[in-house]
Amino acid sequence: MNAPNQSSDLAPVDARISGQRLWERLCAMAEIGATAKGGVNRQALTNEDTRGRMLLLEWATARGYQASIDPIGNLFIRRAGRNPALSPVMTGSHLDSQPTGGKFDGVYGVLAGLEVFETLDDYGVTTERPMELVVWMNEEGSRFPPPTMGSAVAAGALPLAEALAIRDVKGADVASALQAQIVALPPLGQRELGIDAHAYIEAHIEQGPVLENETCDVGIVTGIQGLHAYEIQLIGAEAHAGTTPLRHRKDALVAATALIARIRAAIVDPLDVLRFTVGRFEVYPGSPNTVPGKVTFNIDLRHPDAAHLLGAGDKILQLCQGEIEGCPISAKVLLRSTPVSFDARVVGAVRDAANARGMKFRDIVSGATHDAKYTAQHVPTGMVFVPCEKGISHNEAESARPVDVAAGAQVLCDAMLAIMSA
Ligand code: GLV
Ligand code: MN
Ligand code: MN
Repeated sequence: MNAPNQSSDLAPVDARISGQRLWERLCAMAEIGATAKGGVNRQALTNEDTRGRMLLLEWATARGYQASIDPIGNLFIRRAGRNPALSPVMTGSHLDSQPTGGKFDGVYGVLAGLEVFETLDDYGVTTERPMELVVWMNEEGSRFPPPTMGSAVAAGALPLAEALAIRDVKGADVASALQAQIVALPPLGQRELGIDAHAYIEAHIEQGPVLENETCDVGIVTGIQGLHAYEIQLIGAEAHAGTTPLRHRKDALVAATALIARIRAAIVDPLDVLRFTVGRFEVYPGSPNTVPGKVTFNIDLRHPDAAHLLGAGDKILQLCQGEIEGCPISAKVLLRSTPVSFDARVVGAVRDAANARGMKFRDIVSGATHDAKYTAQHVPTGMVFVPCEKGISHNEAESARPVDVAAGAQVLCDAMLAIMSA
């Protein structure tokens, strides 16, 4: 370690992150919500999510960082700078997971940010601007669709009241689940909604196979593909499974599967770039001997080109009018986020940091969505990716190598320092 209290933002010391500490923290966090198959289930605003936040707050307060929370539950951890009036250099990601999630999606970016702060403490680096680490609320959107809820509200893209009213499948709303979490957390400063930062840089696993296939140390993320989320409902009529002839039924499940097949055929993309997923499908009343009277399902639609995405989204909405198999259809738009290009200066700072460390890197557009798409609407934004095994993600088998997560955290550290005075 070098001398304390360096006076320059561009630390004259070569501040080296601790790969071992970062790995130990990732392992400790992976115990919260651990699943039998080696992944995690730490969905937004569950007890496990709260416990994850508590552990992070323990580590943060041990270092004397200040914590605050905004009205949608985004959690901010601040490392002071010399000039508190200056806007912070921000990093962050999410601690919530998919129901069959992995140990790295989101949590890696949060703990890489904490690792940057702790490294700078250890090297005695004082920066001019404060630094902030944000844990976005409900990035995954698995319990409460849509994804990236906390950052959408902070960015003004989703009204707070609308987000707070969203319910999970059991009928619990975001407002009450958030209140339960706030009561369980240690007292936190209150913070207004909004995204105010000098720059935002997020670290994340790639969640695809490109970096591993090309043996890159890191990926320089230049943007994020667009994402539409829709909720579709079909209303049929419950009827007796033994006595009701097929021609007399209004079977919402038969109607829904026919509708999905129709949509898939209508938006088929010969290049296989368009991503179409029905990942949630609810059948009511869910009884083996009652004809389904209602089906609700969600569509996740993605493409890097705004016009193509919009065209496909509009076709879906057209097909979700009227009725099918005697069942009226209704469609709700949950999210329409356009493809995002990141700020050239921040992307350059990430690329320069990887280059200066002699790493192998390439530019990459993110197929997964991230809160960085909303920070990008307000502040200069970029991301750094690290490879993950076989590109597997949203799966309990998700895995990444210690050497790669350390490389990404080092790039994050160097790029945050570099952008501080840019
Ligand atoms: C994020 O989890 C995504 O759905 O891309
Ligand atoms: Mn993620
Ligand atoms: Mn995810």
